[in-house]
Amino acid sequence: MRHYLTVGDLSPEQLRAVVSRAVALRDGAAPGRAEGAIATIFYENSTRTRLSFQQAGALLGLRTLSIAVEGSSIQKGESVEDTLRTVAALGARVAAVRSPWSLLLQDLRDLPIQLVNAGDGWSQHPTQAIGDCAAAQREFGEIRGRTLCILGDILHSRVARSNAQAFSMLGARVLLAGPPTLLPGGLADALGATEVSIEEGLRQADVCMVLRLQRERQERGYLPSVEEYRRLWGLTARRAQLLPAHGVILHPGPQNRGVEIDGEVVTGPQSRIAEQITCGVYGRAAILEAMLDAH
Ligand code: CP
Repeated sequence: MRHYLTVGDLSPEQLRAVVSRAVALRDGAAPGRAEGAIATIFYENSTRTRLSFQQAGALLGLRTLSIAVEGSSIQKGESVEDTLRTVAALGARVAAVRSPWSLLLQDLRDLPIQLVNAGDGWSQHPTQAIGDCAAAQREFGEIRGRTLCILGDILHSRVARSNAQAFSMLGARVLLAGPPTLLPGGLADALGATEVSIEEGLRQADVCMVLRLQRERQERGYLPSVEEYRRLWGLTARRAQLLPAHGVILHPGPQNRGVEIDGEVVTGPQSRIAEQITCGVYGRAAILEAMLDAH
């Protein structure tokens, strides 16, 4: 595999192998070794993804060349293509790119550098999906037969799209719950998922994935107010009691505490959010190993 731009770049068997490898690395298996450098090129802000690519690269022995818009020649108008050609010339074998532009990397596949999508617009966040599947597999041993309920702002969420696809490929049932303006008709079908009420989704969930309310992407008319969103769609401490006793809570972060999720739920006994972040490092290490053929 030269590039990893969408979950669909992996077959179900390849995805299963990468997720299992991520779990093994998380549990102490020795990482493969790779030469050279990874470039992290971020046109959007990020904490978890950027740092976990750096951590994953370090596990494999890769140096990191890190670029953000601030302080780089991107601010002078350098194109994405020229930026990628530059980091390749500086020694990067692979570039992890985060951008607000859906499908940005699809047209850049012929450049002399391997590409991994670190989140593009509303489209995909395929390395997030590997880490999240690894967190669920560590919890339950097997994803097949489990139920994932994704809750909240589905419309704007690349995490929802990638996770619905990845969990389905691994044999899970995927439920979606959210306000009608943020879960428009047809989207559940397009994602191979079933639309349910929030109560129904929580009662059936082995894994409840709460999405960040993407306030920066809201246009007028999606929501009456943030307070209304919390009341109707937030994972409040009271509503979290609907989850089965064995059910676990994930959130890709960053959280709007007191909006889509209560602070005490983030740190409560059913939360696996910290483990999810850790698995994100090993998920990225596993996909980089596969891409770079690191042994
Ligand atoms: N989950 C995620 O993409 O978080 P960051 O935006 O902090 O990278």
